[in-house]
Amino acid sequence: MPTIDRSRAFALAQDAADPLAPFRSEFLIPPAIAAHDPARAASAAADASPAVYLTGNSLGLQPRATRAAIQQELDDWANLGVEGHLHAKHPWLPYHEELRDDAAALVGALPREVVVMNSLTVNLHLLMAAFYRPTPTRHAIIIEDAAFPSDSHAVQSQIINRGFSPSTSLIRLKPRQGELTLRTEDILATIDRHAGSLALVMLGAVNYLTGQWFDMPAITAATRRAGAIAGWDLAHAMGNVPLALHEIDADFACWCSYKYLNSGPGAIAGAFVHERHLARTDLPQFAGWWGNDPASRFVMGPEFTPVYSADRFQLSNPPIFSMTPVRVSLEVFRRAGMTRLREKSLRLTQYMESLIDDLNARLPSPAVSIVTPREPAHRGCQLSLLITPHNASTSATPSSHAADAASVKAAHARLSRQGVIVDFRSPNIIRAAPVPLYNSFLDVWTFIQALEHAVTTT
Ligand SMILES: Cc1ncc(COP(=O)(O)O)c(C=O)c1O
Repeated sequence: MPTIDRSRAFALAQDAADPLAPFRSEFLIPPAIAAHDPARAASAAADASPAVYLTGNSLGLQPRATRAAIQQELDDWANLGVEGHLHAKHPWLPYHEELRDDAAALVGALPREVVVMNSLTVNLHLLMAAFYRPTPTRHAIIIEDAAFPSDSHAVQSQIINRGFSPSTSLIRLKPRQGELTLRTEDILATIDRHAGSLALVMLGAVNYLTGQWFDMPAITAATRRAGAIAGWDLAHAMGNVPLALHEIDADFACWCSYKYLNSGPGAIAGAFVHERHLARTDLPQFAGWWGNDPASRFVMGPEFTPVYSADRFQLSNPPIFSMTPVRVSLEVFRRAGMTRLREKSLRLTQYMESLIDDLNARLPSPAVSIVTPREPAHRGCQLSLLITPHNASTSATPSSHAADAASVKAAHARLSRQGVIVDFRSPNIIRAAPVPLYNSFLDVWTFIQALEHAVTTT
């Protein structure tokens, strides 16, 4: 293991040299007290010390600019009424089009392949309604065994809705015995093995639990070779890792905007549909008036004429107050740039990894094992940590022991008391995501001090 400078001064020097450091001040960071006494957080002094917030993988922080941007829309509504559709500062009629280019840049798509709309699970359903067309011979869907529950529910209900059964049509990818993440070769072999019956492969590009970033080009190519549809859930990938959906030839993808996109709880999500599907007349999609070609939308006829863009999947006119935080956030990403963000992210997460290795090496036995792949190309910023508190009689497996859960929960509570906000997944995983837009090297350093205390104190 290379030696790591574990001094606070080192962390401060990294922050001082970080060209993205000024972005931190564009975000509202909850006070440390929010970590353990949320009821008192609202009345904390404005200059209260900030929490070490490492849960941008769950809910990103509020950009300072969001409040004024929403106020602007309220003012435009008050002052213009219906005229706001054309005359608001950001006219409401084409509002979603303002978000298109920036969203497309983040997922590596042509602008016309992207639309900001609805929420994530809704979009998954809308796109599966169009692209999952099971037949008696080709009906199977592959997902991760540890898929986020909503994805499992969505694909199972789609299978049932089409008259098939998850017991025969759902294939779950499981890690090898004793391993916690999936091997690319095993995913590809499963796709090949089921090529004859495969209709859809729908994986979370970055797995929510392990933080594993799958080999999207290889999996997409194998899926398409098998004659199936490649769909991606980008909930944990959007704004976290660089994406190239058009180039890798994915069929569709969906994401949410409340994690790395910092657009607020339940924020409006997005969808990608590859260009090759956009002019299709045979797609049995669900339709609404906002998916109609704008040229004939207001003719108000009964026929649906889909617009030549991913907008054809829009059902309703966009909710402006909910779209505004997405617009603000995408603008922040445009200025920061995904290339610079990824470069910092690699360094920040590797710093956290090195400090954890160093911590384990200093303890009589390792207390924190990293579930997330060690290779930077197979992860985003999140590290999933399997915790074995020092005096606990827990085994280093994710098996469901009540004792594991209780002692790791206690360690999590000790982190909270020190002003660290990370999340706990029962029985023994803590997820920590240093987000390059607003987290600092000092945040990571402080987290590791708190983690040492949390796993060694009883
Ligand atoms: C991978 C993944 N899929 C689906 C969802 C559900 O998203 P929503 O509630 O926005 O539909 C989440 C939420 O965190 C998620 O992480």
